[in-house]
Amino acid sequence: MLDYHRLLQHEENLDPANWGEMRSLSHQMIDDMMDYLQHIGERLVWQPTPESTKQMLKSPLPTNPEAPGEVYAEFKAHILPYPKGNIHPRFWSWVQGGGTPFAMLAELLAAGMNPNVAIGDHAAMYVEQQVIDWCKAMLQYPASASGILVSGGTLANFTALIVARNAYDARIREKGLRAVPGQLVLYASTEAHVCMQKAAEVIGLGREAVRQVPVDGDFRMDVVHLKQMIAADRAAGMAPFCVVGNAGTVNTGAIDPLADILAVCREEKLWFHVDGAFGALAKLVPEYQDRLAPIEQADSVAFDLHKWICMPYEVGCVLVKDAALHRSAFASQPNYLLSHERGLAAGPDPFGNYGMELSRGFKALKVWMSLKEHGVDKFARLVRQNIAQAFYLAELIEKEPQLELMAPVAMNIVCYRYNPGGLSVEALNALNKEILMLLHERGLAAPSYSLIDGLYVIRMANVNHRSRKEDFEALVRDTVELGTQLHYTNT
Ligand SMILES: Cc1ncc(COP(=O)(O)O)c(C=O)c1O
Repeated sequence: MLDYHRLLQHEENLDPANWGEMRSLSHQMIDDMMDYLQHIGERLVWQPTPESTKQMLKSPLPTNPEAPGEVYAEFKAHILPYPKGNIHPRFWSWVQGGGTPFAMLAELLAAGMNPNVAIGDHAAMYVEQQVIDWCKAMLQYPASASGILVSGGTLANFTALIVARNAYDARIREKGLRAVPGQLVLYASTEAHVCMQKAAEVIGLGREAVRQVPVDGDFRMDVVHLKQMIAADRAAGMAPFCVVGNAGTVNTGAIDPLADILAVCREEKLWFHVDGAFGALAKLVPEYQDRLAPIEQADSVAFDLHKWICMPYEVGCVLVKDAALHRSAFASQPNYLLSHERGLAAGPDPFGNYGMELSRGFKALKVWMSLKEHGVDKFARLVRQNIAQAFYLAELIEKEPQLELMAPVAMNIVCYRYNPGGLSVEALNALNKEILMLLHERGLAAPSYSLIDGLYVIRMANVNHRSRKEDFEALVRDTVELGTQLHYTNT
């Protein structure tokens, strides 16, 4: 039996034993991080995690306390020097944003308040509501739509596809997929992000339910094929329910013909979802408004704020035009989560009614503070700047006889390779992979890679607010230098 009377004579908590020491340590941490971010461009983009750090991170579960100052010293010695690199001006891997100092501070404030943004009448719930309203405004999406912040594009797409699936037949929530005669299928181009397939697996449709629609020479969905595939599936007794349009594909940044896809969806009575993980925000740029205007009519749209709005990880957003359908896909309020008319359990409709999670952090604060700090026009200018930099890089590549552009540049992604001529596909693939690894290992630049039609490409995806023209000039110079060195050592 627990001797609780005795135990309660020595109650403890997790607050600092010495608030003064914690306060000065916290000032030191902020000073260090400000120095670190201010001078990040002077460091190597990336360096491998050394053995000493890996060993340190194998130490057993701590049982005894260690002074916070010592823990912080370990962080500074073993963790801080080995970042992924996405805060550096020459990082353009995958599609990863760089964060900002003010948003970092917002994260600190959010963690300090530490609200669980699931339910209740507290400020964080209203902040998230306002951020969602601002997200709608950024995309000129209907004000009556619903939305929720999630961890990122993947979860935003998952959420949208669940709503689309349940909207197809309201019985699915109760009965599962056996409620629907015929296999549910959705359509996305061969260039769509892998999260569509993952979503189909997780929501019980299976990967085969994602019909991969071929693309044209510009990597945009071929809508004629789309129509044929829908017709064939219907004839075979399948149940088409959704088409996903890409506002910026992950490989090349291609924008699907969204207006044509929208028209097919209306004609065929299918849910029109847009994966705009990064590209949806190009809607802020005048030159892209026409191409991206159909987003305003999409049934749902998924996009990230940790990519082109440069928020520290993680935060993405999903918007759903029909708020009632969105709610009906997730709403559940058991006795212990009922909303009340007054008191702490009042407040906005709980976020658990709009997504998969119950406990949720205060992701909204960094977005709220950053949109206020800069104003949306500044973000629009930065998106436009990143696109302009991508076109500039493409121009530099085209001027360089040993470099080859491997896909049309539609937005902020440039795929290229070093090609001195006379090499087989295998040799070129190996050579370009080696160039990429040396760019990384020497800390020069961090583009990433992909395979386009079996050809290895160096892929630069730019959502970096710290990059400058000179950084792209250096990328071209370094690629050519490394390529030339490697080629001539090998021949
Ligand atoms: C087009 C597209 N969709 C979805 C995602 C997944 O987003 P996240 O990594 O935020 O989950 C990405 C990531 O780069 C993407 O480019």
